Amino acid sequence: MHIEVSHLNKTFGQFQAVRDVSFSIEKGHLIGLLGPSGGGKTSILRILAGLETPDSGEIVFHGKKVNDLPPQERGIGFVFQNYALFKHMSVFDNIAFGLKIKKMPKDQIRARVAELVELTGLKGFEHRYPHQLSGGQRQRVAFARALAPEPQLLLLDEPFAAIDAKIRQELRVWLRNLIERVGITSIFVTHDQDEAIEVADEIMIINQGKVEQKGTPWDIYKNPQTPFVASFIGESTIVEQISELKGFEEAKIWPHTKALIRPEYIEIGRRHEFSLLSATERGRIKQIHFRGSEWMVEVEVGSHTLITYRSLELDVLQPGEEVYVLVHRAYLFNDNDSWIMENKLKEDPMPIHI
Ligand SMILES: Nc1ncnc2c1ncn2[C@@H]1O[C@H](COP(=O)(O)OP(=O)(O)OP(=O)(O)O)[C@@H](O)[C@H]1O
Ligand SMILES: [Mg+2]
Repeated sequence: MHIEVSHLNKTFGQFQAVRDVSFSIEKGHLIGLLGPSGGGKTSILRILAGLETPDSGEIVFHGKKVNDLPPQERGIGFVFQNYALFKHMSVFDNIAFGLKIKKMPKDQIRARVAELVELTGLKGFEHRYPHQLSGGQRQRVAFARALAPEPQLLLLDEPFAAIDAKIRQELRVWLRNLIERVGITSIFVTHDQDEAIEVADEIMIINQGKVEQKGTPWDIYKNPQTPFVASFIGESTIVEQISELKGFEEAKIWPHTKALIRPEYIEIGRRHEFSLLSATERGRIKQIHFRGSEWMVEVEVGSHTLITYRSLELDVLQPGEEVYVLVHRAYLFNDNDSWIMENKLKEDPMPIHI
């Protein structure tokens, strides 16, 4: 189902939870809603589902305005974080629930449940009760139950939040495959960037009730359009006075500009690792953390603490050690604008006077 949402607003009392939200989703796409707590993600889902009425704005599903349709007529399936299964019902009955309400004939219900049990990898569990399942299995039952009535839109509100990291990782891959196979338009809310990046075709960053940016994960990462997005996605350091760093002196011409430096924009090492010392700063290792596939290093440069990564293949740096720091580029922003600035000394090294 193609979704078109325009100029949604929703106020709870004095508080505006959703501000002029517009977006569209192509049929069969999975879109990830990502953003800080209280940003308005759940409110947006609830409005789409018809559980909340917007103050203004239009919701169009497949060319048809659905603002006045009750939830059960919108063709939506839900999976929520705490969407408890019916405890006293077996897996089979949980999945069949929506179909019974629709008064589907018994043999058709049996066939549809069998199909979903197969699809969600729950074969052999049909007669178990929720307390006899693991968290991951329960959430798969919740997916099967949501998909059973063949919804056109699937709304997933942090479906894996209560599940531990390892299983969660497996479920992500599983969900991605499931959604591809079923080909259903879906919206997936998460707090977890990695989850959004891995699962979604497109990400929408929601903050203070507004859409900050929408795009593919790569697009958002490479071209953040607002300081909020730049600092929210990926790890980074905000630097107040970027003009104090070598190669960025020119930034002085923009007095109220701050900079954001991503870890991968920074290279650190011992003297022999650099051919171009004129573009480097001197820094001191503050802390170093083993990250499984690399080191995460906190390095002090002047009054700034920068975060960067270092390959496990290279010499291990020690806390307190003096190192060379090359900042390749920074993301600059002020109230009106944002842009990338390259280290000028790196591009155009100063001539060496002998
Ligand atoms: N029914 C309500 N009455 C009053 N305020 C509400 C109501 N529902 C949501 N809010 C407020 O609206 C804001 C957005 O809430 P929402 O649940 O949409 O955020 P969220 O992005 O889903 O957050 P989280 O990531 O913590 O789930 C919050 O400040 C919340 O307190
Ligand atoms: Mg929420």
